[in-house]
Amino acid sequence: MRTQYSNEITPSLDGKSVSLCGWIHEIRDMGKLKFLILRDRGGFIQITAKAGTCDQSVLNTINEVSRESVVDIKGIVRKNEKAPNNVEISPVSIDIISKSGSPLPLDVTAKVDADIDTRLNNRFMDLRKPEIAAIFKIRSKILSAGREFLLKNGFIEIHTPKIIASASEGGTELFPISYFDREAYLAQSPQLYKQMMMSSGFDRVYEITNYFRAEEHDTRRHLNEVVAIDAEISFIKDENDVMGFLEGLILSIIKSAAECKTELDILKKEINVPGDIKKITYDKALKLLEENGKVVPWGADIDTEGEKFLGDIVMKRYNSGLCFITRYPLRIKPFYTMPHDSEYSRSFDLEYKGVEISSGGQRIHDYNLLVERIKECNLNPENFGFYLNAFRYGMPPHGGFGLGIERVMMQLLDLSIREVVLFPRDRHRLTP
Ligand code: 4AD
Repeated sequence: MRTQYSNEITPSLDGKSVSLCGWIHEIRDMGKLKFLILRDRGGFIQITAKAGTCDQSVLNTINEVSRESVVDIKGIVRKNEKAPNNVEISPVSIDIISKSGSPLPLDVTAKVDADIDTRLNNRFMDLRKPEIAAIFKIRSKILSAGREFLLKNGFIEIHTPKIIASASEGGTELFPISYFDREAYLAQSPQLYKQMMMSSGFDRVYEITNYFRAEEHDTRRHLNEVVAIDAEISFIKDENDVMGFLEGLILSIIKSAAECKTELDILKKEINVPGDIKKITYDKALKLLEENGKVVPWGADIDTEGEKFLGDIVMKRYNSGLCFITRYPLRIKPFYTMPHDSEYSRSFDLEYKGVEISSGGQRIHDYNLLVERIKECNLNPENFGFYLNAFRYGMPPHGGFGLGIERVMMQLLDLSIREVVLFPRDRHRLTP
């Protein structure tokens, strides 16, 4: 229906006929002079109607139209130094395609700041704000950059089931669903299936996928449904090979976000692309924390406060926002994690500005060791029959990671996790 987006209208088009479609952002009636601000995906453009020079039907429509109505405007481009971006449209016709009701549930002009719940309850309208839409344009960009990196490195995109029969990340945090006459669960991650693909000989696979986690957490950085880039790689020497791929992936993602100049200007944010990523062992991390007055007992997970502390220390010491924490105690990692020795594992977490954005490592590829570890983790090998079978007939050494997109986005833009998901699912929110 349109010839251009608003941001494509420049003074150089002076005198040209154009057709623009979008929403009425603002209406200003100065008597003989009436202004509309039209908003579309590209931005804003001023529509200026003067009594006497403009058709009466156009003036009547402006009197009738309400804010946020969808319109189709045909007109002539006029150079005007007083108009925003030195250009405006002199309207020839205005069609109201869909008239908006009023009052509006939310002020799109953002003159009144709404609280996050009101915004999320009216998300379709919240997303009309350019600064909110900008978040999701960046999100789309980083996913494309991630996909491009993986494809360039020979990864094959796969899709694994989201309705599953047994837990993949330990026994808890599952959403049970009824599957005909049986109980099933929503997938916590593609972990078991992506590992099985290694036995199938796919060598390098990835999936951009939803994780469903029935965690009770009610925090700034947990949701019950998230999206992650999940990857698995065969014929690795050890977990360092996996970290190499993850490093390439996250750096290309951060670089692509830093290149979103238009969106970052709208958001008034800047993104620094870190250099290489520092590796710190779990034991060293605990020591650094202790030196700075925070004691984490050996064998415990580093909690939110500890991660934040560590992020600050790494920034001060190494001038980097990113660091790997490696060689975690075996006892706090899932059953499929490759042991380094009896105490430690070949696993890692990737931290970005003091928040875990990814975890991964080398996996066990030996059938007997895997069965042993499942039992040691108080799980029943019988529940993992379909998975274990893939280890009995030739399984290469392999490893992988899961990179949480919401965590990456919230750290990139310094926002809370609810802000970077279109329709978040948390402890209290199931709609919209
Ligand atoms: O650390 P997690 O649970 O690891 C796995 O799922 C493994 N299967 C990954 C692997 O390949 N070994 O989740 C991976 C990432 C986390 O680092 C985090 O970024 C994100 O997924 N994530 C969440 N983000 C927000 N809210 C939640 N409840 C999350 N759960 C996981």
